[in-house]
Amino acid sequence: MPLVNFKDVLDDAYRQKYAVGSFNVINMEFLEAIIEAAERKRSPVILSIAEVHFKYVTLENITPAIKYVAHRTSVPVVLHLDHGESFEAIMRALRAGFTSIMFDGSRLPFEQNLATTSEVVKMCHAVGVTVEAELGHIGGAEAQASTSKQASEELFTKVNEAEEFVRRTGVDALAVAVGTAHGLYQGKPQLDFERLDNLNRALKMPLVLHGGTGLSIEDFRKAISLGVAKINFYTGMAVAACEAVRQRLDKGFQCVDFPGLLSEAKDAVTRVVEEQMEIFMSANVCAKQNALCPICNGCGIVKAATPLAHDDLVRKITQATLDALRKLQKS
Ligand code: 13P
Repeated sequence: MPLVNFKDVLDDAYRQKYAVGSFNVINMEFLEAIIEAAERKRSPVILSIAEVHFKYVTLENITPAIKYVAHRTSVPVVLHLDHGESFEAIMRALRAGFTSIMFDGSRLPFEQNLATTSEVVKMCHAVGVTVEAELGHIGGAEAQASTSKQASEELFTKVNEAEEFVRRTGVDALAVAVGTAHGLYQGKPQLDFERLDNLNRALKMPLVLHGGTGLSIEDFRKAISLGVAKINFYTGMAVAACEAVRQRLDKGFQCVDFPGLLSEAKDAVTRVVEEQMEIFMSANVCAKQNALCPICNGCGIVKAATPLAHDDLVRKITQATLDALRKLQKS
C-alpha cells in the first residue's frame, strides 16, 4: 500500500483509544525490524526519521527503501519527520515524499513558535502532508541514548496557550510536555495526568507523547485513555540492539560474521517494537476490517468486500435496464 499521512491513522486511534507507535529509523536494520513487528502484530505504524539522526542516516538514501517496503506491507505506514527544527530538514523531507512532518519550535518564544508553525502548516497542508507541533518543551537528547534527562515542570504545556496555539496554527496533532523526557530517565518519571486530561478536554484532538522509553504500562494506558494517540519510542530499541551485540561479543564472536551481529541486533529491535505495540493496544487493529481499511487495504480485506458490492450494483443496474427494455417493448 502507499504511505498514508498520520491524520488517517491517528483519528481512528484517538476515537478507539489506542496509540500508534512512532519508531525512529536510523538504518536498514531498524527499518526492517519495525516493519516486521508491525506485520506480525497487525498494527499501523509510524516510521520516523529525526533531524538529529541525519548524521547517521541520509534521508534521501533511505526514503526509497522505506517507500518500497511500505508498498509491500499490509498495514498502514506513515513516514514522518521527527523534531524537524530547520527549514532545510522540512524541505528535504517534503521533497523525498514524507507524508507527515513534525515542526519542533518548542525552543522558540510562544509567538515565534506559533508564527513559524503556522507557515509550516500552510506549506504542508497544501501538499496533503500532516503536521505535528510541540508546545512547552520535552527535554532530553534523542541522539544520545546515554544522556539521562528529567522533565522540567516550568516547561510543561499550558492549557490556555495550547488552545490558542492549535486554533491559530491548524496543526493536526500536538506534542505535549507533561513530564516525559527523551533518553533514559533518572528515577521514576512523574506524569502530570491532570494536565493531560485538561489538555485533552480543551483540544479534543490526537495528542503526542514523546520520550516513551522507560514509562510503565500503567502510564501508557492512562495517557492513551486521556487522548494520547501517538507515542514516540526510540531509546529502548537502541538499548536492546546494543545489548544483543554486547551479549554476542561476550560469547566470543568471530568478526567474519558481522552480518550475524547485525541480524541479532535487528531481532532484538523487532521484539521490543512488538512488545510496545501490545502495550499501546495498536496490535491487531489490522486483524479485521476497520475504519483504516478504506485508506489502506494493504491486506486486501476490503478488496474481498468491494467486488461483492460492485456485483450487487451491476445486478441491480442490469435488472433495471431489462425492466425498462421490457416496458418499452410492451408499449
Ligand atoms: P525515547 O528515546 O525516550 O523513547 O523518545 C523517543 C522520542 O520521543 C523521539 O521523538
